[in-house]
Amino acid sequence: MSSAKKNMTAKTEPAGSQKLWGGRFAEATASSVEAFTASVHYDSRLYKYDIAGSRAHATMLREQNILSQEELDAILGGLDAIEGEIDRGEFEFKRELEDVHMNIEKALVDKIGSAGAKLHSGRSRNDQIALDLKMYLRDECDRFDLLLTEIQKASVALARKYLGAIMPGYTHLQRAQPVLISHHMLAYYEMFGRDRERILDCRKRIDVSPLGCAALAGSGLPIDRESTAGKLGFSGITANSMDTSGDRDFAVEFVSCCALIQNHLSRISEELVLWSSQEFNFVEIDDKFCTGSSIMPQKKNPDIPEIIRGKSGRVNGSLMSLLTLMKGLPLTYNRDLQEDKEPVFDTVDTVSASLAIMAELLGNLKFNTEIMDRATRKGFITATDLADYLVLKNVPFREAHAIVGKAVAFCLDKGCELEELSLEELQGFSQAIEEDVFSVLTVEGSVNSRMSAGGTATDRVKEAVEQAEQQLKRL
Ligand code: ARG
Repeated sequence: MSSAKKNMTAKTEPAGSQKLWGGRFAEATASSVEAFTASVHYDSRLYKYDIAGSRAHATMLREQNILSQEELDAILGGLDAIEGEIDRGEFEFKRELEDVHMNIEKALVDKIGSAGAKLHSGRSRNDQIALDLKMYLRDECDRFDLLLTEIQKASVALARKYLGAIMPGYTHLQRAQPVLISHHMLAYYEMFGRDRERILDCRKRIDVSPLGCAALAGSGLPIDRESTAGKLGFSGITANSMDTSGDRDFAVEFVSCCALIQNHLSRISEELVLWSSQEFNFVEIDDKFCTGSSIMPQKKNPDIPEIIRGKSGRVNGSLMSLLTLMKGLPLTYNRDLQEDKEPVFDTVDTVSASLAIMAELLGNLKFNTEIMDRATRKGFITATDLADYLVLKNVPFREAHAIVGKAVAFCLDKGCELEELSLEELQGFSQAIEEDVFSVLTVEGSVNSRMSAGGTATDRVKEAVEQAEQQLKRL
């Protein structure tokens, strides 16, 4: 499709008579207007869908006896030839023909004459563009599902590889409770799983054919919308021609799903930036995914996660563009809608590239397990476990919380950790504390006590890894 762009002409001979809609115009369009209104420099990306839609439409027109067999054959032959030319980069898209639809239709008429001029019977560019965009996004939904699956696989592979290794879990970016690295990575498996569900759900609403709604009111010709929908693999047809001609909900929804995907990518990126800093030193991002500084020779920068994090601003911006584009539009089609394509295309390119590179980066990521483990040994990370221990000894939780708070303050003063206190010292805070307390004060004991469903105990996480692997295998 990049070949389509390459062949764009910035300027050609005067228009007017050339225009497919030129009949009622006495004067040629000003070239400034042509430049301002053209969309072919970006919507040429849709040419395959435009041609597929035209094939289905023409075939249906034949079924309905609106075209003869000779006319249909000529149209199909012409469309094949045009598609080949575009594929090979030999087709010249012309700005004065505005958009992808009219460029292809004009080329068809030039090639096969009057049969080509019959193709547009019973349709309008308004349903045509909705069709092209829906078919394009339907394919993108399928591709995004695969890209998301790849990143899920990378997360689960890390969870499998590091099963058993412990790290601090954070709230407020303060060490909170010890968790398994695998548990942390499976959190992202879940997020990207929800993203897949959302994309596939969005696909259901995309998968309804708009073709045949024509300009806004439907067609006066005896067209068969079910037939074209079937030929193009749609699960059904839209119910109201006026809704259809001005509807871009599906595009807003797709970009909204993408904004959440990029948001998730941005969150994992933020963690990778933090974790790869000398302050954390939790991970090694492979050299081939980092860059250096032009001035500071010692630097190894986590540019990929930074750029991904940065790109989330851009995707959120596209979502805002689309929502704002739609908010005041009267029914039905308005030319404003032409402004939908660039944010959609940019979102597709940005999010798919980010997903692919993040999956690759995760595939090469190394955790510094010793350093991560060491980070759990400081900071009273088992304080909640001591409180839970007291609860099991029948101390009300609020009281237990206060007792442990005092013990922590004592340790801070003394410069030691909870498990370094003697039994007598601990009993100074509560008589409920007994010899068995020391097993709950260890980091391993803490992790493995969290057996509740969805918790970080090794057995639970092992099950979760296995389930995730099974799920991914079924795909
Ligand atoms: N390029 C237009 C778009 O993207 C195609 C539909 C134009 N329809 C029209 N009546 N001018 O929306």
